[in-house]
Amino acid sequence: MIFILTGAGISQESGIPTFRDAGGLWEGENVEDVATPRGFARNPDRVLDFYNARRRNLLDPAVAPNAAHQALARLEAAVAARGGEVLLVTQNVDNLHERAGSKNLLHMHGEMLKARCQLCGEVMRWEGDLTRQSVCPSCAGPGRLRPHIVWFEEMPLYMPEIEQALNRCRLFVSVGTSGNVYPAAGFVSLARRAGADTLELNLERSLGASRFRDGRYGKASAIVPAWVDEVLGGQ
Ligand code: APR
Repeated sequence: MIFILTGAGISQESGIPTFRDAGGLWEGENVEDVATPRGFARNPDRVLDFYNARRRNLLDPAVAPNAAHQALARLEAAVAARGGEVLLVTQNVDNLHERAGSKNLLHMHGEMLKARCQLCGEVMRWEGDLTRQSVCPSCAGPGRLRPHIVWFEEMPLYMPEIEQALNRCRLFVSVGTSGNVYPAAGFVSLARRAGADTLELNLERSLGASRFRDGRYGKASAIVPAWVDEVLGGQ
């Protein structure tokens, strides 16, 4: 099984800002205020507005999957056709992997186009702005909807499935992530311990670069399709 981890770098060329590059989302924002449960409790409108702006950016017709997203979807289909498996675990909350055709996909940090009701726990598709007046369509509870996003200090989603997959993957590939945030930044070490080969595809060496056996550097829209072509034997 091939385990692929993606981060914001794979969506950068699609027009979605990364977090820690120049001009990134955390520049000029206080993470504490907009991406933590405490920040949401302290000033829900500030947090809801931050995610409303990011949701609108994602729904901009100009934002679409790029060649890197498409190459990963092609890899999954071609490997499945040979009876193999590609699992794509993304830290990204955009829907570009789905739109490119990836199916075996886990969003470990949640999804921008979903909301979660804090009263009944329902997770639902939500494309409009989310406000404190938004009503849960499931329990009709008023003003208790939040973005279905994993904030700092919250547990990422699907960790049991992810750890199980890391133990059985033969190849671990990381694409477009800086290696700043755990547990994702530690996945390469778990995969190595399980005997997997490891490859980093990124614009520049990440914080975890030395843990990978191999690394290729450049824009994702160029280096990811080139790598997929190599894996598929140029098919
Ligand atoms: N092609 C390839 N890599 C790129 C490109 C590109 N066009 N542009 C940027 N990168 C790389 C950067 O070099 C950097 O290493 O993508 C990485 C982006 O790093 P971050 O901005 O830190 O994003 P990410 O690693 O996904 O952040 C992880 O942190 O804030 C939390 O929950 C948030 O999921 C996010 C997590």
